[in-house]
Amino acid sequence: MYKDKKVVFSGVQPSGQLTIGNYLGAIKNFAEFSDEYRCYYCVVDEHAITVRQNPAELRRRTYETLALYIACGLDPEKNVLFVQSHVSGHAELGWILDCYTMFGELSRMTQFKDKSKKNTDNINAGLFTYPALMAADILLYQTEMVPVGSDQKQHLELARNIAERFNGIYGETFVVPEPFINKTPSARIMSLAEPTKKMSKSDENENATVRILDEKDVIIKKFKRAVTDSGSEVRALDGKDGIINLMSIYGAFTGKSFEEIEREFEGRGYGDFKLCVGEACADALAPVREEFKRLMNDKAYLEDVIAKGAMEAYRDSLKTMSKVRRKVGFIEKPRF
Ligand code: TRP
Repeated sequence: MYKDKKVVFSGVQPSGQLTIGNYLGAIKNFAEFSDEYRCYYCVVDEHAITVRQNPAELRRRTYETLALYIACGLDPEKNVLFVQSHVSGHAELGWILDCYTMFGELSRMTQFKDKSKKNTDNINAGLFTYPALMAADILLYQTEMVPVGSDQKQHLELARNIAERFNGIYGETFVVPEPFINKTPSARIMSLAEPTKKMSKSDENENATVRILDEKDVIIKKFKRAVTDSGSEVRALDGKDGIINLMSIYGAFTGKSFEEIEREFEGRGYGDFKLCVGEACADALAPVREEFKRLMNDKAYLEDVIAKGAMEAYRDSLKTMSKVRRKVGFIEKPRF
């Protein structure tokens, strides 16, 4: 019975098309938790509107992100897959936690600083309080562990501080969550155009990112164009960031170690290597893309998954919500 299980929660924004960085660093690893943990994987549409979205596109991407979760191996029978805005507790607890989050703490968030530099015409309050909503997502389900990319570490640290602060004032209310950050090289896939920068789904240079749903020829072409140094040896040496990144990607898709890769490509040059990386990546993603297409053509099934996820998440959220309401001094909600 799940009530004895510890909880895992993670979220992905339905904005932009997910990259192999999101896949290898996060989503691919989500599935392995479901035997041991009660897992919630959320499509965080409320977070997405902190930057301006086209409504039709946001709707489409919400379905797509959910379909992609399933296509990447998350079984809806074993995981709670749901959409954030379908469970009112996220926004409600988000507001409450806003009142236990300090202006100074939010001002220090590097993602806020980055995003406000990029969106100078729309530095809205939601963008600023985004991490408190993220804390609410996590704390609402008494989450023990949050698998995220290393860029979310600061937000998670803040979620822990908010939980501890609240518990300090009102007594044990929230489980204090731990981040789970995959430390293998494949967890931090870099841009193909600027290999010292993390691969980002919002990069404007299409050649910098490989999308999970890119077609095989596109993937091969992007790897062919990947920036490397002027050498020719496939070896993980200091300063060869481009080659090391390609080796991490190849290793992640084939299970080979750096030593094995170095041996395999001894004397073969970059061109040959890049083609092999492209093929390994495209072949590994082909079944994901197929399954994604099939699911997107089966809206009825997706709607079922979404409804079931919303129901389960909503039911599970009520306990924390009523506890929090009581602790802060709200009177009981009338029943109607
Ligand atoms: N902020 C996360 C990101 O941009 C997405 C997110 C929202 C999330 N709520 C979450 C991740 C809760 C983990 C847990 O990637």
